[in-house]
Amino acid sequence: MKFFLDTANIEEIKRINKLGLVDGITTNPTIIAKENREFSEIIKEICSLVDGPVSAEVIGLTTVEMVEEAREIAQWASNVVVKIPMTEAGLEAVHILTKEGIKTNVTLVFSVAQGLMAAKAGATYISPFVGRVDDIGEDGIELIQNLKQTLNNYQFETEIITASIRTINHLEKAAIAGADIATIPGSLLPKLWSHPLTDKGIEQFLQDWKKVPVSTKA
Ligand code: G3P
Repeated sequence: MKFFLDTANIEEIKRINKLGLVDGITTNPTIIAKENREFSEIIKEICSLVDGPVSAEVIGLTTVEMVEEAREIAQWASNVVVKIPMTEAGLEAVHILTKEGIKTNVTLVFSVAQGLMAAKAGATYISPFVGRVDDIGEDGIELIQNLKQTLNNYQFETEIITASIRTINHLEKAAIAGADIATIPGSLLPKLWSHPLTDKGIEQFLQDWKKVPVSTKA
């Protein structure tokens, strides 16, 4: 499973990159707004720090606007991916951009039908939002399982980015379901590598180590 970070925070990206855990980055307008910097400037800097794909989202709602923005964004770096919302206009934009060799990430996917449409239009990635599906009383992980099965059934090359991950359970279940990618918010990361029994075990080992005789030989 590939790990993307769902952040535009440069310090966070640099810190986690040191652990070898960053295969790519996803952003959205909300994430970009938190950084208080110009959009292209942030994306270019992130693209220079990370080897893998970096998603940057369009704001336009018509196909013409999306395609125009996407062509501009695609020039910012060779590893940039254009995030397009899951609408009829978005599907048309994805179809056009795919023919031009521009990689796309279709976002705000909440059903198997939407994911299938995006894959059919040529999306490089689709982003189903598991946390927001759970928020409306449905099962986000079941959506990932069903999307994986559907894309496998027809050998689509489109990769599933599990997005809106809120819990360790989301990540683990998405991995078990075979999601290609998980995009993880920085706030969740420490919980992924921590366990209270690990801390307790280290403490116990340090206490016991004090009982080991120290050599008196010079
Ligand atoms: O980047 C898209 C997605 O991960 C957003 O998550 O927590 O705002 O639902 P969230």
